[in-house]
Amino acid sequence: METILSGMRPTGKLHLGNYLGAGINYVKMQETNNCFYFIADYHALTTHTKSSELSSSISNVLAEYLAIGVDPNKATIYIQSHVPQIPELYLLLNMFAYKGELEKCVTFKEKARKEGQTLNAGLLTYPVLMAADILIHRATKVPVGEDQQQHIEMARNFAQRFNHYYDAEIFPMPVAVSNDENLIRVPSLQGTGKMSKSDAGDSAIYLVDDKDSIIKKVKRAKTDSGPTEPNQTKPIEIENLFYLMELVSSKETYDHFDKAYNECNIRYGDFKTQLGEDMNNFIAPIRERYTALVNDRNYLLNVVKEGGEKARESAQKTIDLVRNVVGLNSMNS
Ligand code: ADP
Ligand code: TRP
Repeated sequence: METILSGMRPTGKLHLGNYLGAGINYVKMQETNNCFYFIADYHALTTHTKSSELSSSISNVLAEYLAIGVDPNKATIYIQSHVPQIPELYLLLNMFAYKGELEKCVTFKEKARKEGQTLNAGLLTYPVLMAADILIHRATKVPVGEDQQQHIEMARNFAQRFNHYYDAEIFPMPVAVSNDENLIRVPSLQGTGKMSKSDAGDSAIYLVDDKDSIIKKVKRAKTDSGPTEPNQTKPIEIENLFYLMELVSSKETYDHFDKAYNECNIRYGDFKTQLGEDMNNFIAPIRERYTALVNDRNYLLNVVKEGGEKARESAQKTIDLVRNVVGLNSMNS
């Protein structure tokens, strides 16, 4: 049995990108592995989420995990801030993270470009906290979307330096995984970039969106004036819509519209209606389960209470090993 770990930040509602890039694999992997899935509330704080929004997002994301099929009887589900061993390991790993490499991390550079002088140190060390999340359970596989690849590589670097410095094989080397060979990147409906929680309303399809809003958003997605030559290369915004169709529709449906595009007789109106319908059918069962769960506060509390206990127990085993090799245990009685 392998140890699997992943998490999402409670910074808003989950969207199709979160589900198809990561969540769907949480569900698949829990059948045959030792899985830890958590809610990264400390990570959300790097962008100063308001406290009332943070606390409601935490319970919403928890209900969304359960709604997509993460099962507390098969996986350990917990909240990051309920496991104090994580910030302890984060502190110790910081000694193995080089300032230069943290500054070169792509996600940090993007934030730095936007925020300038007010950029906080939590953002700089974001990959170190993420490494602590993974290494605290000595996980070997991390189901994530393509945007997280570099963070996992950095976790390997910190783990390897730690092992090497103390000449002890404490941490295994974690790898990013998806169901496919390549990690997935679900595109935004607006044609450029990835679907993201932080984007304006129209670019993401949320797992709790109702049918009307899904159809409206898909209808508003950017298209062009249509192909003019048979088999011409699709422009990026059309290619993205086809990719989304590949993810949520049947192969027959995809092939039908692909053929129509290649023969220059595609009607984007019909194409978008079909895509909207298929997206709705795809997420409807999740939306229904979410609605049934989100107000069952006692159940949600119980899930994270039990999950927290299991996660702390596993984390403590690693911290004991770590404190020992670092030399912090000599005066413990
Ligand atoms: P967001 O970027 O929307 O705020 P998170 O950063 O919390 O979402 O990501 C949670 C998980 O979902 C990560 O594993 C991330 O790689 C994955 N993910 C987020 N957006 C996408 C996307 N558009 N395509 C594929 N995976 C994604
Ligand atoms: N940084 C991840 C994201 O934005 C969330 C996350 C935090 C995570 N810690 C993790 C993902 C550990 C995988 C493993 O999506």
